[in-house]
Amino acid sequence: MKKISIAIDGPAAAGKSTVAKMIAEKLSYIYVDTGAMYRSLTYKAIVEEVDINDEMEMERLLLHTIIELKPSINGQLIFLDGKDVTNQIRGEEVTNKVSKVAAIKAVREEMVIRQQKFGIDGGVVMDGRDIGTKVMPNAELKIFLLASVDIRAERRHRENLQKGFPSNLDTLKEEIMLRDKQDSEREISPLRKAEDAIEIDTSSLSIKEVAEKILDMALERIEAK
Ligand code: CDP
Ligand code: CDP
Repeated sequence: MKKISIAIDGPAAAGKSTVAKMIAEKLSYIYVDTGAMYRSLTYKAIVEEVDINDEMEMERLLLHTIIELKPSINGQLIFLDGKDVTNQIRGEEVTNKVSKVAAIKAVREEMVIRQQKFGIDGGVVMDGRDIGTKVMPNAELKIFLLASVDIRAERRHRENLQKGFPSNLDTLKEEIMLRDKQDSEREISPLRKAEDAIEIDTSSLSIKEVAEKILDMALERIEAK
């Protein structure tokens, strides 16, 4: 069967990674969580006490950093310089700092090169903020996922509680709004819907419903290829 590339973008906690993983599994495609790559670099900067406002230092740090995404039975694992950091990169400090790191031009340029290598042969589902506009502008299927900020905060809250992480709904809502603002207003590759992306508001849809919609569109495009 011919392989296509699928780009899934949207604001924080819209359901991108959950749905992207499901589709990748159904189609036996590679799943690339580009947010995890920015989170990993941010985590390393915190651990090594590198100033995230120092753009040259951050660029240097990334050039000495190996980020690997490895599929496992429990979902994707993220390795930073050979160490599993899957859980550490979801912490509050990383979440609060990642948008600042992701706004650095040299960091984005290097990340985009790495992400494009993952997608070079097609058969990839990639999620992030600039996948349809910058990383895979020729993707056969581009999706832009949306949901109201209240619903997104509630979903993340529920997820945190399930995982046993500390969580406060109001703080989460503020954090999500601030990150969306920073991601949408940055100069380089801001969060935008690509012109040819299909928008899906997931506010009143289940994960399964969203995944089925996208899968139908993917199968249509695979057949047409
Ligand atoms: O899962 P969640 O929506 O909380 O965020 P994420 O996908 O893990 O992304 C974390 C952050 O990385 C985002 O808020 C952006 O600042 C940045 N990011 C980006 O700039 N470009 C991407 N392609 C992916 C993530
Ligand atoms: O990757 P992104 O930050 O866009 O979102 P996510 O981590 O995939 O989803 C955030 C939370 O919302 C997860 O706990 C999902 O299970 C949940 N979700 C949902 O309840 N209904 C949807 N239609 C989509 C996501």
